[in-house]
Amino acid sequence: MKALIPAAGMGTRFLPATKALPKEMLPVVDRPAIQYVVEEGLAAADEVVIINSREKKAIERHFSADPQLVSTLQAKGKDALADAVAHAGALKVSYVYQDKPLGLGHAVYCAHEKTGDEAFFVLLGDVLVPDNKMLPRMKEVSDQHDGASVIAVVPVPEEEASRFGIIAGAEVSEAVWKVDSLVEKPPLGTAPSNLAVFGRYLLSPRVMELLADAVPGAGGEIQLTDALDAVLREEELYALVIDPQEGFDTGTIESWLETNRILFERTKHLT
Ligand code: G1P
Repeated sequence: MKALIPAAGMGTRFLPATKALPKEMLPVVDRPAIQYVVEEGLAAADEVVIINSREKKAIERHFSADPQLVSTLQAKGKDALADAVAHAGALKVSYVYQDKPLGLGHAVYCAHEKTGDEAFFVLLGDVLVPDNKMLPRMKEVSDQHDGASVIAVVPVPEEEASRFGIIAGAEVSEAVWKVDSLVEKPPLGTAPSNLAVFGRYLLSPRVMELLADAVPGAGGEIQLTDALDAVLREEELYALVIDPQEGFDTGTIESWLETNRILFERTKHLT
Protein backbone atom coordinates (compact mmCIF):
# COMPACT_ATOMS: atom_id res chain seq x y z
CA MET A 1 0.00 0.00 0.00
CA LYS A 2 1.22 3.52 -0.79
CA ALA A 3 1.05 6.61 1.42
CA LEU A 4 0.58 9.87 -0.48
CA ILE A 5 1.71 13.19 0.97
CA PRO A 6 0.50 16.25 -0.96
CA ALA A 7 3.16 18.96 -0.66
CA ALA A 8 2.79 21.20 -3.68
CA GLY A 9 0.97 24.04 -1.88
CA MET A 10 2.35 27.57 -1.75
CA GLY A 11 2.44 27.98 2.03
CA THR A 12 0.69 31.33 1.77
CA ARG A 13 -0.05 31.58 5.50
CA PHE A 14 3.66 31.56 6.33
CA LEU A 15 4.85 34.17 3.85
CA PRO A 16 7.41 35.68 3.75
CA ALA A 17 9.08 32.77 5.63
CA THR A 18 7.98 30.44 2.82
CA LYS A 19 9.14 32.67 -0.05
CA ALA A 20 12.24 30.54 -0.68
CA LEU A 21 11.69 27.70 1.82
CA PRO A 22 8.85 25.19 1.32
CA LYS A 23 6.34 25.31 4.17
CA GLU A 24 6.89 21.58 4.71
CA MET A 25 10.56 22.29 5.52
CA LEU A 26 9.79 24.58 8.47
CA PRO A 27 11.37 22.95 11.52
CA VAL A 28 9.40 21.28 14.26
CA VAL A 29 11.94 20.96 17.07
CA ASP A 30 14.89 19.31 15.28
CA ARG A 31 13.57 18.25 11.87
CA PRO A 32 11.38 19.58 9.07
CA ALA A 33 7.66 19.01 9.61
CA ILE A 34 7.42 16.74 6.55
CA GLN A 35 9.95 14.28 8.02
CA TYR A 36 7.45 13.36 10.78
CA VAL A 37 4.81 12.72 8.11
CA VAL A 38 7.16 10.62 5.96
CA GLU A 39 8.16 8.55 9.02
CA GLU A 40 4.49 8.03 9.89
CA GLY A 41 3.76 6.94 6.31
CA LEU A 42 6.69 4.52 6.20
CA ALA A 43 5.55 2.91 9.48
CA ALA A 44 2.24 1.90 7.83
CA ALA A 45 2.84 1.69 4.08
CA ASP A 46 5.42 0.13 1.78
CA GLU A 47 6.11 3.32 -0.15
CA VAL A 48 5.75 7.02 0.53
CA VAL A 49 5.00 9.26 -2.45
CA ILE A 50 5.32 13.01 -2.05
CA ILE A 51 3.20 15.00 -4.47
CA ASN A 52 5.59 17.87 -4.94
CA SER A 53 5.86 21.02 -7.00
CA ARG A 54 8.89 21.20 -9.27
CA GLU A 55 10.17 24.31 -7.47
CA LYS A 56 10.42 22.67 -4.06
CA LYS A 57 13.79 20.98 -4.48
CA ALA A 58 14.68 21.46 -0.81
CA ILE A 59 12.27 18.64 0.10
CA GLU A 60 14.02 16.25 -2.28
CA ARG A 61 17.46 17.31 -1.05
CA HIS A 62 16.41 16.61 2.53
CA PHE A 63 15.48 13.02 1.72
CA SER A 64 18.65 12.36 -0.33
CA ALA A 65 21.85 10.86 1.05
CA ASP A 66 24.69 13.31 1.85
CA PRO A 67 27.70 11.08 2.60
CA GLN A 68 30.06 14.06 2.66
CA LEU A 69 28.13 15.82 5.43
CA VAL A 70 27.83 12.55 7.35
CA SER A 71 31.58 11.92 7.23
CA THR A 72 32.40 15.53 8.13
CA LEU A 73 30.21 15.22 11.22
CA GLN A 74 31.72 11.84 12.12
CA ALA A 75 35.24 13.24 11.79
CA LYS A 76 34.28 15.93 14.31
CA GLY A 77 32.93 13.31 16.72
CA LYS A 78 29.35 14.50 16.21
CA ASP A 79 27.98 11.00 15.84
CA ALA A 80 24.40 11.70 16.91
CA LEU A 81 24.09 14.45 14.29
CA ALA A 82 25.75 12.24 11.67
CA ASP A 83 23.21 9.51 12.42
CA ALA A 84 20.31 11.97 12.21
CA VAL A 85 21.51 13.25 8.82
CA ALA A 86 22.06 9.72 7.50
CA HIS A 87 18.62 8.68 8.75
CA ALA A 88 16.83 11.53 6.91
CA GLY A 89 18.72 10.70 3.71
CA ALA A 90 17.84 7.01 3.96
CA LEU A 91 14.05 7.47 4.26
CA LYS A 92 12.56 5.92 1.14
CA VAL A 93 10.51 8.52 -0.68
CA SER A 94 9.44 8.89 -4.29
CA TYR A 95 7.93 11.89 -6.05
CA VAL A 96 5.24 12.84 -8.51
CA TYR A 97 4.56 16.42 -9.54
CA GLN A 98 1.50 18.62 -9.42
CA ASP A 99 2.14 21.32 -11.99
CA LYS A 100 -0.96 23.43 -11.34
CA PRO A 101 -2.49 24.36 -7.96
CA LEU A 102 -5.94 22.93 -8.72
CA GLY A 103 -6.74 21.61 -5.22
CA LEU A 104 -6.21 18.65 -2.89
CA GLY A 105 -8.30 16.25 -5.00
CA HIS A 106 -6.21 17.10 -8.06
CA ALA A 107 -2.97 16.68 -6.08
CA VAL A 108 -4.01 13.18 -4.98
CA TYR A 109 -4.99 12.27 -8.54
CA CYS A 110 -1.48 13.18 -9.71
CA ALA A 111 -0.34 9.95 -7.96
CA HIS A 112 -2.87 7.65 -9.66
CA GLU A 113 -0.21 5.74 -11.58
CA LYS A 114 1.53 4.95 -8.29
CA THR A 115 -1.54 3.57 -6.50
CA GLY A 116 -2.97 1.55 -9.42
CA ASP A 117 -5.89 -0.56 -8.23
CA GLU A 118 -4.79 -0.65 -4.58
CA ALA A 119 -6.22 1.16 -1.56
CA PHE A 120 -3.94 3.98 -0.40
CA PHE A 121 -3.32 6.38 2.49
CA VAL A 122 -3.31 10.17 2.17
CA LEU A 123 -1.47 12.15 4.86
CA LEU A 124 -1.83 15.91 4.95
CA GLY A 125 1.38 17.56 6.08
CA ASP A 126 -0.33 20.23 8.17
CA VAL A 127 -0.94 17.77 10.97
CA LEU A 128 1.64 15.61 12.70
CA VAL A 129 0.95 12.30 14.45
CA PRO A 130 4.36 11.57 16.00
CA ASP A 131 3.31 8.32 17.70
CA ASN A 132 2.46 6.80 14.26
CA LYS A 133 -0.56 5.00 15.75
CA MET A 134 -3.44 6.47 13.75
CA LEU A 135 -2.97 4.77 10.36
CA PRO A 136 -2.84 1.22 11.85
CA ARG A 137 -6.08 1.95 13.75
CA MET A 138 -7.73 3.16 10.54
CA LYS A 139 -6.55 0.00 8.76
CA GLU A 140 -8.13 -2.08 11.54
CA VAL A 141 -11.50 -0.31 11.07
CA SER A 142 -11.22 -0.85 7.31
CA ASP A 143 -10.48 -4.57 7.79
CA GLN A 144 -13.51 -4.88 10.08
CA HIS A 145 -15.70 -3.44 7.29
CA ASP A 146 -14.64 -5.41 4.21
CA GLY A 147 -11.87 -3.03 3.20
CA ALA A 148 -14.05 0.11 3.20
CA SER A 149 -12.47 3.58 3.09
CA VAL A 150 -11.80 5.16 6.49
CA ILE A 151 -11.06 8.76 7.38
CA ALA A 152 -9.93 10.22 10.68
CA VAL A 153 -12.20 12.94 12.09
CA VAL A 154 -11.83 15.21 15.10
CA PRO A 155 -14.45 17.16 17.07
CA VAL A 156 -14.20 20.92 16.46
CA PRO A 157 -16.09 23.88 17.95
CA GLU A 158 -19.09 24.97 15.84
CA GLU A 159 -17.53 28.29 14.88
CA GLU A 160 -14.49 26.53 13.36
CA ALA A 161 -16.42 24.00 11.24
CA SER A 162 -16.34 26.19 8.12
CA ARG A 163 -12.53 25.71 7.87
CA PHE A 164 -12.81 21.94 7.38
CA GLY A 165 -14.52 19.06 5.61
CA ILE A 166 -17.40 17.96 7.87
CA ILE A 167 -19.13 14.57 7.97
CA ALA A 168 -22.75 13.56 8.54
CA GLY A 169 -23.54 10.04 9.74
CA ALA A 170 -24.12 7.87 12.78
CA GLU A 171 -21.93 6.14 15.34
CA VAL A 172 -21.82 2.37 14.72
CA SER A 173 -19.34 1.34 17.42
CA GLU A 174 -17.10 3.12 19.90
CA ALA A 175 -15.40 6.04 18.10
CA VAL A 176 -16.43 4.72 14.68
CA TRP A 177 -19.06 6.44 12.52
CA LYS A 178 -20.61 5.29 9.29
CA VAL A 179 -20.55 8.33 7.03
CA ASP A 180 -23.69 9.36 5.08
CA SER A 181 -22.36 12.51 3.44
CA LEU A 182 -19.54 15.05 3.57
CA VAL A 183 -19.37 18.74 2.90
CA GLU A 184 -16.24 20.82 2.35
CA LYS A 185 -16.08 24.09 4.30
CA PRO A 186 -19.80 24.46 5.11
CA PRO A 187 -20.99 28.06 5.63
CA LEU A 188 -21.19 29.06 9.31
CA GLY A 189 -24.16 27.48 11.08
CA THR A 190 -24.83 24.81 8.41
CA ALA A 191 -22.36 22.07 9.45
CA PRO A 192 -24.12 18.68 9.71
CA SER A 193 -21.98 17.63 12.73
CA ASN A 194 -18.99 18.78 14.75
CA LEU A 195 -16.71 16.11 13.24
CA ALA A 196 -14.07 17.55 10.94
CA VAL A 197 -11.91 15.67 8.44
CA PHE A 198 -8.53 15.62 10.17
CA GLY A 199 -5.99 14.91 7.44
CA ARG A 200 -5.49 11.12 7.48
CA TYR A 201 -7.35 9.02 4.90
CA LEU A 202 -7.37 5.34 3.89
CA LEU A 203 -9.10 5.31 0.52
CA SER A 204 -10.38 2.69 -1.86
CA PRO A 205 -9.13 2.68 -5.48
CA ARG A 206 -12.61 3.82 -6.55
CA VAL A 207 -11.94 7.22 -4.96
CA MET A 208 -8.96 7.65 -7.30
CA GLU A 209 -11.15 6.77 -10.30
CA LEU A 210 -13.75 9.34 -9.25
CA LEU A 211 -11.05 12.01 -8.95
CA ALA A 212 -10.30 11.55 -12.66
CA ASP A 213 -13.65 13.19 -13.48
CA ALA A 214 -13.89 15.54 -10.49
CA VAL A 215 -15.02 19.13 -11.07
CA PRO A 216 -14.02 22.17 -8.97
CA GLY A 217 -15.97 22.65 -5.73
CA ALA A 218 -15.45 24.88 -2.67
CA GLY A 219 -12.96 27.69 -3.37
CA GLY A 220 -12.90 26.75 -7.08
CA GLU A 221 -10.62 23.78 -6.27
CA ILE A 222 -10.95 20.06 -7.01
CA GLN A 223 -11.80 18.79 -3.53
CA LEU A 224 -10.93 15.35 -2.16
CA THR A 225 -13.99 15.70 0.10
CA ASP A 226 -16.29 15.88 -2.96
CA ALA A 227 -14.87 12.61 -4.33
CA LEU A 228 -15.51 10.99 -0.93
CA ASP A 229 -19.08 12.26 -0.96
CA ALA A 230 -19.47 10.79 -4.47
CA VAL A 231 -18.00 7.39 -3.54
CA LEU A 232 -20.71 7.04 -0.88
CA ARG A 233 -23.24 6.32 -3.61
CA GLU A 234 -21.31 3.11 -4.40
CA GLU A 235 -19.32 2.12 -1.31
CA GLU A 236 -19.30 2.43 2.46
CA LEU A 237 -17.12 4.99 4.20
CA TYR A 238 -16.27 5.02 7.91
CA ALA A 239 -14.83 7.71 10.16
CA LEU A 240 -12.57 7.06 13.14
CA VAL A 241 -13.11 9.75 15.78
CA ILE A 242 -9.76 10.72 17.23
CA ASP A 243 -8.82 12.68 20.31
CA PRO A 244 -7.63 16.23 19.45
CA GLN A 245 -4.49 15.45 21.49
CA GLU A 246 -3.47 12.68 19.08
CA GLY A 247 -2.48 15.14 16.36
CA PHE A 248 -0.52 18.37 16.22
CA ASP A 249 -1.51 21.12 13.84
CA THR A 250 1.24 23.09 12.10
CA GLY A 251 -0.97 24.82 9.55
CA THR A 252 -0.92 28.31 11.08
CA ILE A 253 1.89 30.30 12.70
CA GLU A 254 0.19 30.03 16.07
CA SER A 255 -0.39 26.26 15.91
CA TRP A 256 3.10 25.66 14.51
CA LEU A 257 4.64 27.55 17.46
CA GLU A 258 2.45 25.67 19.93
CA THR A 259 3.34 22.29 18.35
CA ASN A 260 7.03 23.17 18.58
CA ARG A 261 6.58 24.05 22.24
CA ILE A 262 4.76 20.81 23.14
CA LEU A 263 7.04 18.48 21.18
CA PHE A 264 10.14 20.26 22.50
CA GLU A 265 8.94 19.68 26.07
CA ARG A 266 8.46 15.99 25.25
CA THR A 267 11.93 15.65 23.72
CA LYS A 268 13.47 17.22 26.80
CA HIS A 269 11.92 14.50 28.93
CA LEU A 270 13.58 11.88 26.75
CA THR A 271 17.10 13.28 27.00
C1 G1P B 1 -8.13 20.10 3.86
C2 G1P B 1 -9.36 19.26 3.51
C3 G1P B 1 -10.42 19.39 4.62
C4 G1P B 1 -9.80 18.98 5.96
C5 G1P B 1 -8.53 19.82 6.23
C6 G1P B 1 -7.83 19.29 7.47
O1 G1P B 1 -8.47 21.46 3.84
O2 G1P B 1 -9.90 19.71 2.28
O3 G1P B 1 -11.52 18.55 4.32
O4 G1P B 1 -10.76 19.15 6.99
O5 G1P B 1 -7.61 19.74 5.13
O6 G1P B 1 -6.71 20.06 7.78
P1 G1P B 1 -7.36 22.65 3.76
O7 G1P B 1 -6.77 22.76 5.13
O8 G1P B 1 -6.39 22.22 2.71
O9 G1P B 1 -8.14 23.88 3.38
